[in-house]
Amino acid sequence: LPDELIDDFGRRVRYVRISVTDRCDFRCVYCMSEEMTFLPRAQVLTLEELALVARAFIELGVEKVRLTGGEPLVRRDIDRLVEDIGSLPGLRDFAMTTNGAGLGKYAHRLRRAGLERLNISLDSLDPDRFRRLTRTGDLAKVIEGIHAAREAGFERIKLNAVILKGRNDDEVIDLVDFARREGLDISFIEEMPLGDVSDHSRDETYCSSDDVQALIETRHELIPTTETTLGPSRYFRMPDSDTRVGFISPHSHNFCATCNRVRVTVEGRLLLCLGNEHSVDLRAVLRRHPGDIEILKERIVAAMALKPERHHFTTDGDVQVVRFMNMTGG
Ligand code: GTP
Ligand code: 5AD
Ligand code: SF4
Repeated sequence: LPDELIDDFGRRVRYVRISVTDRCDFRCVYCMSEEMTFLPRAQVLTLEELALVARAFIELGVEKVRLTGGEPLVRRDIDRLVEDIGSLPGLRDFAMTTNGAGLGKYAHRLRRAGLERLNISLDSLDPDRFRRLTRTGDLAKVIEGIHAAREAGFERIKLNAVILKGRNDDEVIDLVDFARREGLDISFIEEMPLGDVSDHSRDETYCSSDDVQALIETRHELIPTTETTLGPSRYFRMPDSDTRVGFISPHSHNFCATCNRVRVTVEGRLLLCLGNEHSVDLRAVLRRHPGDIEILKERIVAAMALKPERHHFTTDGDVQVVRFMNMTGG
């Protein structure tokens, strides 16, 4: 077997995003519908299966693992999984994307278990609006979580803000100033058309990264950099702060040509692209050959041929991928 993963377009896969649960304590309007049903336990990979999947990818040259959800911190014994994956040799970057509400409880444990980096979603600094955007979220708890993460020793914590026109685009500068005050990085994300969220018409709320950037530039100078976290963000610096401002622009600045990542859903479906359905059922392999990492690796290597060149998202409001975002954690 090869020691690196390369797809048919010559792109090397160095980054795997593993969803550890489809559940979440929030119901963000761009991610879920109000009424969601979640997977029954038997369909969900066990912690042992998830750790084996991570190991298989690392043995195939993957350097970066990000745990996602749903909300990863609602998975029972998540700190045990973090410890198992964190101790794997060859892992260079170990991160999690979270809504932050569980960090007051978990931040120290996660850091001790070997997690290195956290991205925390934060779309508004107004408690009522935060509640409307997340439907169930409590802003104070998330801020408390951000502080707990900093105290636990996480460095370069990054905020993620999905900007929707008419909903939170008036908070862009406030969010940047918050990141500056708190010593955090921040990425602004264009909403992607996954799942029929029915809360809003996505064609009406589309807000391009260029519009967000122009808003920020009315207050702060943004200097382009070539820095990368091996993710899709394009980073800028400000002259008078350590904060990096990133833009994730699937619509306006397509980044598929340099795609380096794949995803595993909590059902063990290896998804070759966020914007397509091409996938391989790793759970079937795991359950037919329990603990057999070589067969798992073979299936992963073979799957690379299925990775599509790019997504075909549009901003006209059509749902392009029926799957909701909580199946992949973005
Ligand atoms: P870093 O490691 O800090 O660079 O994080 P990241 O941007 O890779 O991960 P994060 O979970 O913070 O994701 C931020 C946003 O980027 C989410 O909305 C993801 O859906 C989106 N994103 C990440 N990778 C891809 C991708 O391959 N394609 C698309 N279309 N969006 C992506
Ligand atoms: N479009 C863009 N980003 C999304 N996220 C969730 N749903 C969407 C969507 N439809 C973001 C979350 C989180 C990250 C993992 O993905 O805000 O920060
Ligand atoms: Fe890669 Fe697909 Fe994301 Fe494009 S949309 S960057 S091809 S995963």
